Amino acid sequence: MLTKEQNELVTRTNAGTPMGELFRRYWLPALLSEEVAENDGPPVRLKLLGERLICFRDSEGRLGVIDEFCAHRGVSLWFGRNEESGLRCPYHGWKFDVNGRCVEVPSEPEGSRFCEKVRLKAYTLVERGGVVWIYMGPPEFQPPLPEWEFATVPAAQSFMSKRLQECNWLQALEGGIDSSHVSFLHSGGLKSDPLFKGAKGNEYNLADLRPRFEVAETEGGLFIGARRNAEPGQLYWRITPWIMPCFTMVPPRGDHPVHGHFWVPIDDENCWAWSFDYHPTRALTEQEVQAMRDGAGIHCKYVAGTYIPLANKSNDYLMDRARQKTGELYSGVESIAIQDSSLQESMGPIQDRTKEMLTTTDRGIMQARRRLMAAATALAEKGIEPPGRDANAQRVRSAAIVLPEVASFIEAAADALRAEPGKPHSTV
Ligand code: FES
Ligand SMILES: [Fe+2]
Repeated sequence: MLTKEQNELVTRTNAGTPMGELFRRYWLPALLSEEVAENDGPPVRLKLLGERLICFRDSEGRLGVIDEFCAHRGVSLWFGRNEESGLRCPYHGWKFDVNGRCVEVPSEPEGSRFCEKVRLKAYTLVERGGVVWIYMGPPEFQPPLPEWEFATVPAAQSFMSKRLQECNWLQALEGGIDSSHVSFLHSGGLKSDPLFKGAKGNEYNLADLRPRFEVAETEGGLFIGARRNAEPGQLYWRITPWIMPCFTMVPPRGDHPVHGHFWVPIDDENCWAWSFDYHPTRALTEQEVQAMRDGAGIHCKYVAGTYIPLANKSNDYLMDRARQKTGELYSGVESIAIQDSSLQESMGPIQDRTKEMLTTTDRGIMQARRRLMAAATALAEKGIEPPGRDANAQRVRSAAIVLPEVASFIEAAADALRAEPGKPHSTV
């Protein structure tokens, strides 16, 4: 349970809030590269941490992200003409380059230097692993480039999607580190989903509905271990890394690709659920990629031409009471991603954490909140830079591993939890 003040602190991310300033110290996934693939292609709206921005690729292939609204009289530059190395407002023709500099005010007299005084807010972008990453913080605190394993393996080994989720980022993140719901909410998917089924670990998952949780602190975040009974004398561990502020990874299943998420605030009541899948040692097969495109695993089907899930709040997530009754779908909602989003959105735009009742399976959630609040407060009050911003913190993996009953999970799985190029992942 949190107090009202703590809940506000940890959920609000607009500029000037402690958590908003914390988020502005990291590279965050902003767009898929496919959204801005073309030189002089259509500009794309981007709302993050409550700020409305516009992203475009200019005639030279340079990417830029600038304030959505024209410096002249506030027209949305989504209507802009992306031409000749800049984005031109269609109202009176002012033109801006990828750095937000105004390069032309065509109505001004010849020789006027008026436009030199005009500048729109702009942020730094970098492309890596099929993702356009944004840094929205003070330039002097820009961290090294993102080093997550999915973004650094060869492109053929990795797949990324995103979907809109209509709730605060934190309740989405909390779903990502709450391994105990898998044996219930996703129990159908373990048997049928092409990207999950067939793993030995699934049997342990379904046989033991009372996982016990242990949480280990690391410099960049947490490793959350959920253990279930395996063969006599042994335990099946599913270990989920959480790295500050919003990266989580799901423990793998068999030889399936391994997946995870970023939970990125759009504003306080909406977030992007970024969902990646990669295999550390081989290319994804055609069937796997097709399944991901078709919305299997942690991905989803979309309303055509958008990143809005086809099954969403406005259609009750296509609830199927008949399949809920038979148990084929535990909650009656199809697809792992939508099973999660439907329940998390049902908590309301920002969950009221003053009313919750946490239990031992929520230990990872409690500790992550504590870390987030401590880091946001330390940054706001003492200017202490938050953890999780460098390669050392980011080169982590999830693991699904059977260990002797007596072993400490964090010691016995230390090597499995470290990402190294070409090293097979630990999975059952
Ligand atoms: S409002 Fe954009 S040029 Fe006038
Ligand atoms: Fe889930």
